[in-house]
Amino acid sequence: MSACDLSVRIASLVLRNPVLSASGTYGHGLEMGVFTAAAELGAWVSKTVTLEPRGGNPAPRICETEAGLLNSIGLENRGLEHYIAHTLPLMAAADTVVVTNIGGERVQDFAELARRLDGESAVDALEVNLSCPNVQGGKLPFATDRVLAAEVVRAVRAATHKPIFAKLSPNTAGLGEIARAVEGAGADAITAVNTLLGLALDWRTRRPGLATVQGGYSGPGIKPVALRCAWECARAVRIPVIGCGGIQDAADALEYLVAGCTAVQVGTASFADPALPGKLAREMASLLAAQGIGSARELCGTIHDGREARDAVQAR
Ligand code: SIN
Repeated sequence: MSACDLSVRIASLVLRNPVLSASGTYGHGLEMGVFTAAAELGAWVSKTVTLEPRGGNPAPRICETEAGLLNSIGLENRGLEHYIAHTLPLMAAADTVVVTNIGGERVQDFAELARRLDGESAVDALEVNLSCPNVQGGKLPFATDRVLAAEVVRAVRAATHKPIFAKLSPNTAGLGEIARAVEGAGADAITAVNTLLGLALDWRTRRPGLATVQGGYSGPGIKPVALRCAWECARAVRIPVIGCGGIQDAADALEYLVAGCTAVQVGTASFADPALPGKLAREMASLLAAQGIGSARELCGTIHDGREARDAVQAR
């Protein structure tokens, strides 16, 4: 076992390592214990929970592409009541930090979810899903407008004492401004980023791969885009950034730390190997130790981008 210290701090939370499951790719974490014990992860991030149950979008809603996956699930879930009554009590027993991802179509949906979850001691933090591309006609109203994004986060901030992660989208220009807006509205961390809008089709049948035609693209093909987004956010804000997009191995995860992230989320790669999140943390520790780096925190923001990213991260 290596001596490298992987622990990181996000707001009031101390995570034993910087590897989190990405929302929507890991169930609520409960099903995954046979592959990766909760204690091997920095945190579990739940699938998005909405106020009311949602059936999601019509099938087909998953489509494999050359270098990743398109999805248009549409936030299928059993709703808040079911989550509180049946899922959270099981998550509470997990030996890891529990982050509940919340989604809605109106500002007041997010505020109500935050208010109702504020009293739930099993929830350590909320991740505000501002960026699902598969609802509201793919228009991403909250993720592409810094005023609306800030409005949601401000309403959530007013409704909860728990740390808030704001999950942003790559499908916008001016991501840094949106990151700054949600920081100003009270977010404690930024998750960068959700899926890229994409389309797959078969030229012979002329049919798209998804019933909704377009959907969210994830997997190794998006890594350069997502890494740039995470770096852009880390440059723009002083709160921690949690990088997400295309991570397949420990080296990918360490690249996000160098770009300025405090932690990472692993998503699509878990479908191919559900044991990956646990392995990643161990491999990160070995790689860092082999380089004589004593902690994950030391690596954060060390990119030589000529713009002193490291100073910004270390000032946090
Ligand atoms: C979905 O449920 O459509 C995916 C979740 C997301 O991209 O936020």
